[in-house]
Amino acid sequence: MTVTIVGSQLGDEGKGGVVDLWGDNADIVARYQGGDNAGHTVVHDGEEYKLSLVPSGAVRGKIGVLGNGCVVNPETLFSEIDALAERGLSPDVRVAERAHVILPYHKVLDGIEETAKSDSDLDAGTTGRGIGPTYEDKAGRRGIRIGDLLDPEVLRERLEYVVPQKRALAEDVFGVEVGDEFDVDALFEQYKRFGERLAEGEMTVNAGEFLTNAIKDGKNVMFEGAQGTSIDIDHGIYPYVTSSNPTSGGAAVGTGVAPTIVGKGDVVGIVKSYLSRVGTGPLPTELDGDMKPLADQIREKGGEFGTVTGRPRRIGWLDMPMLRHAERASGFTGLAINHIDVLAGLGDLKVGHSYTLDGEEIFTVPPTTEQWARCEPTYKEFEGWDDVDWSAVAEDGWDAIPDNAQTYLEYISDELDTDIFAVGMGPDRDQTVILENPLE
Ligand code: GDP
Ligand code: IMO
Ligand code: MG
Repeated sequence: MTVTIVGSQLGDEGKGGVVDLWGDNADIVARYQGGDNAGHTVVHDGEEYKLSLVPSGAVRGKIGVLGNGCVVNPETLFSEIDALAERGLSPDVRVAERAHVILPYHKVLDGIEETAKSDSDLDAGTTGRGIGPTYEDKAGRRGIRIGDLLDPEVLRERLEYVVPQKRALAEDVFGVEVGDEFDVDALFEQYKRFGERLAEGEMTVNAGEFLTNAIKDGKNVMFEGAQGTSIDIDHGIYPYVTSSNPTSGGAAVGTGVAPTIVGKGDVVGIVKSYLSRVGTGPLPTELDGDMKPLADQIREKGGEFGTVTGRPRRIGWLDMPMLRHAERASGFTGLAINHIDVLAGLGDLKVGHSYTLDGEEIFTVPPTTEQWARCEPTYKEFEGWDDVDWSAVAEDGWDAIPDNAQTYLEYISDELDTDIFAVGMGPDRDQTVILENPLE
């Protein structure tokens, strides 16, 4: 059995927490896209874990897989594994030999290009982890894959081809002086050693085969999406997006498990009860201008500062056209709606129910970002709810959720014609009402 966890908005919807919530019934948790741009939080018994690359199932001792659709920075991977080991966990992480490797020059180029783009407001506000440049090299068929690190001859050959091009790009096109990040010998030595550690730990796998065999043997696999639908390279607000496909189709392509297998399992859309955004680009329901004090209040209450970069997140009302678009793109069979505690005590609430674009009412996201920027939301108002003892509510179940919050949740479920599987009302694993566990 499988379940796919997908961010339905702009990332940071609480995906890590949901993976952890149902993780006990999973045997393997596999990431299918992205890299260490992700920051997934798991809180259990007051212990907080922030994971960038190691799949969130590690907290429950599950096997983690980084699929071929991921871009892997081995430095981050090993330091994260070591840090978790110091905290008493023993992460068992397998990495697809087909996954692409983030090299130091990718990070440098990420920064250089963001600076260049900022003159024309085209910078996405990236996490600076080299994600875009690595996917560029993958598509350009000049990337270096995890499997290449295991074969020094191949590694050297690949580096000798690609590094001079990257150096020329930095120096001759962007006029930036570069260092060891662009030195073939230094890179070869460092990345050969990463390859040795991967081999010693028997960490590399043919992900598609490994996962498909496990599923055929009756194991439960959870696909852990990173980022979110509106920053998907195809379905998001291009160019203010990441460079991979967080939508559910990515789970198949990014692991090598057939879409027919992924499609037999549940696909759960993770929804934050409002919007948060760490990057740039338009955001129709943003709380800006006069509404800034409310945004500040939500940011403080929800701790809305980037997990990876620490940047304050932009805040907006829930946006239903964005969610309808996400539901269609991924085919959600269930929803996990988080952060209803953060909206408590704020008075009446608004939800962007539809948009007006050039005089016409529309219910989903238009295809170009310029059109999206012209969308004026039409709001629906909801009566707010008071702060309560959310841990007690979580223990007592759905009926204990304040009536007005139930109305808000049912509206989302009805609009998306999708059942609610879980409601998050605090960061801890126990601060959740579970209505359905897709792996049970
Ligand atoms: P992810 O990237 O989707 O895994 O989400 P992040 O971990 O980046 O951001 C979500 C933040 O909200 C984390 O600090 C979580 O611990 C926290 N969180 C998750 N669910 C809830 C919830 O229902 N209520 C509150 N208050 N915090 C939550
Ligand atoms: P999780 O998995 C929120 C955003 C960046 C930037 C854009 C491109 O924690 O939800 P990138 O470094 O990927 O090239 O940046 O995407 N971004 C995220 N925003 N949550 C994330 O991950 C994100 N990963 C990337 O802020 O706007
Ligand atoms: Mg995050």
